[in-house]
Amino acid sequence: MTQVISVVQEKGGAGKTTLLTALASLMVEDGAKVVVIDTDPQRHLESWAKKGQTSLDWLYEEDDEKLIPTVKALKKNDPPYDVIFVDTAGFKSAMAMHAIAAANLILIPSKANEADAKGAKRTFSHVQSVAETMEKDIPALVVMMDVDANTNITQAIADAFDAQDVPRLQAMCAHRTGFKEMTSTGQTPQGPAKRSAQSILADLQGRGLISFYRSGSWPKSA
Ligand SMILES: Nc1ncnc2c1ncn2[C@@H]1O[C@H](COP(=O)(O)OP(=O)(O)OP(=O)(O)O)[C@@H](O)[C@H]1O
Ligand SMILES: [Mg+2]
Repeated sequence: MTQVISVVQEKGGAGKTTLLTALASLMVEDGAKVVVIDTDPQRHLESWAKKGQTSLDWLYEEDDEKLIPTVKALKKNDPPYDVIFVDTAGFKSAMAMHAIAAANLILIPSKANEADAKGAKRTFSHVQSVAETMEKDIPALVVMMDVDANTNITQAIADAFDAQDVPRLQAMCAHRTGFKEMTSTGQTPQGPAKRSAQSILADLQGRGLISFYRSGSWPKSA
């Protein structure tokens, strides 16, 4: 079954597009069939995908009311997609609401600062209210981005999420120049950035949250 993963955070610049492109390109390397939908008028995800360095499909959807029909149509693709990623803009919007409603997993990036943490918490509450309205279980997790794990501020922000019962991945995405290079080259992250992105993916896999890795289609037969 095709999984839909939406990356949502109402505070801008928290690392949504970085997280999405890193995870999508690692999954492509593992043999997944991936499509990414950019819904952000800045179209950064589309610019990355257009470089054609990663073997995935992409499209831009600007009409919030068309997002769910678009996702439904992509779910019927033959051959089937393993995963549909949806990127959203860094503000609260009807589009973000539809992206949450369309998804089976929500990732909420947050850098280690108070403004991002507040945005992440509000976004998590927003996901909960959409899930309640739809009477649907939508797992949602904060992913800490661009961090230096050894600093007090990283620990303080992580502790605040834990104290407020906002679920988060234990793995954190480290501050690595390779993520900026990935954005400009359109490739998979390299070197230390790749290892950091792999730790995020491994944490998600360990929690059984990525259906591609549960479905027996991975690893591809040797
Ligand atoms: N782990 C990281 N290491 C280094 N730089 C990072 C990391 N994560 C994000 N960044 C940088 O932070 C900036 C914002 O990241 P990104 O564009 O992914 O955020 P966004 O949430 O998609 O922003 P927007 O709300 O504008 O769409 C970019 O310059 C990106 O390169
Ligand atoms: Mg973005």
